[in-house]
Order: sequence, then C-alpha cells, then structure tokens
Amino acid sequence: MPLAELAAAHGTPLYVYSGATIAARYRAVDDAFAGYPHSLHYALKANSTLAIVRLLRSLGSRVDANSGGEIDVALRAGFIPPEIVFTGVAKTDSELAQAIDLGVKTINAESEGELERIDALARRRQTRARVAVRVNPDIDARSHPHISTGLKTNKFGVSIDDARDLCLRMRDRPGLEIVALHAHVGSQIMDLEPLRGAAATVAALARELLAGGLPLEHLDLGGGLGISYDGTPAPTAQAYAEAILAGLGDIDMSIVLEPGRNIVGPAGALVTRVVDVKPQPGGKQFVILDGGMTELIRPMLYNAFHRIEPVVTRDSPEALVDVVGPLCESSDTLGKDRRMPTPAVGDLVAVLDAGAYGAVMASNYNRRTMPAEVLVQDGRPALIKRRQTIDDLLALEL
Ligand code: LLP
Repeated sequence: MPLAELAAAHGTPLYVYSGATIAARYRAVDDAFAGYPHSLHYALKANSTLAIVRLLRSLGSRVDANSGGEIDVALRAGFIPPEIVFTGVAKTDSELAQAIDLGVKTINAESEGELERIDALARRRQTRARVAVRVNPDIDARSHPHISTGLKTNKFGVSIDDARDLCLRMRDRPGLEIVALHAHVGSQIMDLEPLRGAAATVAALARELLAGGLPLEHLDLGGGLGISYDGTPAPTAQAYAEAILAGLGDIDMSIVLEPGRNIVGPAGALVTRVVDVKPQPGGKQFVILDGGMTELIRPMLYNAFHRIEPVVTRDSPEALVDVVGPLCESSDTLGKDRRMPTPAVGDLVAVLDAGAYGAVMASNYNRRTMPAEVLVQDGRPALIKRRQTIDDLLALEL
C-alpha cells in the first residue's frame, strides 16, 4: 500500500497500521502456546483504537483493560465481561464498581487496601468479585527503568510474602473470590530470563496455595515481550513460550497472557512530511517534520530508538541528520545522528514500529490535534480515526 497515496488522502502526520501484520503476530504468540491451556488478553493500553480492538477480537483475542475507559472501549468493541481482565495500580471505587457490576474475568488487585475496597463494594452488592492478587516478584526486567515494574522499589503489586499472607487472610471474605495470581515485570523485555523467573516465582506460590486448599483457577503472567526496533534479533514467540512454560514447570493451571507491544508495535508506522531541512554547524542537518513528540513521545520519554525511513528514496547523497519535530522544545527529537539521503521539503518520512504506545500516548501540546489513523486490510485502506480538528479540541472548553 503506497504510503504516499494514504498521506495524500488523509494528510500527515498519519498513523498507518497493517491488519495482516497484527493478525500474523497475534497468531504467532497464540500458536506458540498451542497445547498449553492459555488465553491471550491483548493489552489495550498499547493501542485501543476501536477498529484495532475489533480486529483483535475477530482473531480470538481477549483483553486486558487498565482503566474504566478501556473497559468501555472493550465493551463497545464487542467483548463480554468474562473476556476482560482489569489491571492497574490506582483503580478508583467507581472503576471497581463498574468491573464488579459487569462481572469481569478478574480484577487484578495491587494491594491490601484495594482488596479491602473490592470486598466492601462487592458485599454492598451482595456478590463476590473475582480477583487476582498481583505479585511483585522483585525481578529486574532489564528493560528501560521507566517501564520496568517488577522490582520491589516499583509501585506495582505486593511482595511474594505479602501475597501469600493476603491470599490466606482474605480467602474467606464474603465479597472476594481469589481465583488467580498475577505478575507483570515490565515491557520491551528482550531477555527472556526475567519472564521465566517471574513465571517460576508465581507458580511456586500457586503450588503452595493450591496445596493449602485455595482453589486458584489460573495464573496471569502479564505482557512484556519486546520487539526489535533497530533490526537486531528479538526473542521469537516460540522462545517466549518456552521460557514461560519452563518457568511454570509441571503446574496444572491455565495461563493468561497480556501481550501488547509485541502484537501491534511492528504493525504501525507514523507517516510524516518534511517541512524544512536546515544545516547545523559542523555539517549535520536538521530534518524537520510535521510530526514529533506530540504524535510519538517514545524517543523523548525513553530515549527509544525507532527506524526512520524516507517513503520514496532519492539519489541525493547520504547525510548525517537529526530528525526533529515541530514542537517548541529541543527534546522533540525523533532520531539523532541518522544517516539518510537528504530529503527535500515535502518528502514523506516514515517512523517505523510505532503501532504500540504511539497514537495512545499522543497529546495536544502546542494545540496540535490528534493525528488520523488508517488500517490497511486485504489491500484496502480504511480511515479508522479521523484527524482531530481545533473545533473538536475547543468543544471541551467552557
Ligand atoms: N499488562 C500490564 C499489567 C501492563 O502494565 C502492561 C504494560 C502490559 C500488560 C503490556 O505490556 P507489553 O506486552 O506491551 O510490553 N509506554 C511504554 C510501555 C508501557 C507499558 C506499560 N504496561 C513504551 O512506550 O515503551
């Protein structure tokens, strides 16, 4: 699908997604666990544009929602409550009530305080809420510190000892049904050992609790599997499954997984247009795009690397460039010290692997409007989100 055609039709900056890539990646993870009872709960936080969520649903996925808003999106995309797990470190009472009233598969509780609140809310409704207890296994995911979540100094979950204690103390609460243990140690994990270790830690506790008569149903092992942003090999879905299953050992329990990035990351590109090219002292050039940190904040926030490629190649000589966006700060840089044939003003440039944590993290800084999004399926492009207008933006203001 020529990106130039899509950019001409819908303008830039523009997110473009490949439905075929999403389907292939979903199936790769699903197939890797074939033979072991599992369900994939796609992490909506990675990309929750409705059409993408519906596509995942059509592939057989279930979902991990991290807010009341994501629960609503899941329902509107056609998921039923038992297909939704509700995760998140600061679930409000109204979000918990929503999840309890719906009857989601599990509310993954992060603390004693949250379990107390769930119990109280469920009792008031004369029901029992299905909960998972999130364990913080104190494992270093060896990813960027901003997206590592499994160390005891991180705000997530409770220690293994506290989890054991909570499960035993809370098991007879009339408002609670403790059905699972949960762990998620980080994102963009490229080294499978922490994932194996987390599975092993959670499985060991589950064995103990099962032996003590707590009727746990499943283990939720979170998401986290990384992708290659720079072309160096990333772990395969197969290797990921082997690591997880090795960690579980001989335990006889079904698993829930919450992959996000791995499924949608490589399926999306941010297409931008060159607005200006200007020399820097020392011979480098600035390639200045009409999209930047407002559309894709990952390079700024995590020092993340995304490949940046001209959409149409030119014969111009390769130059050393900094690829920057339009925003009013120097942190608005999508790529530093890149080599590319010097583009001309008006050329299109694609920022690759932007399907996860791209559009969902966009902002209106500088009164910039949210980009449009296109999903290509079976060779046909569909506009799945129109570009926000300044009127849309101002409509909220009183
Ligand atoms: N489950 C839980 C409880 C999570 O917190 C996350 C991600 C996932 C699943 C999905 O993880 P994944 O499979 O996508 O790695 N904005 C950051 C990533 C933040 C991830 C937050 N939690 C980035 O752009 O790198």
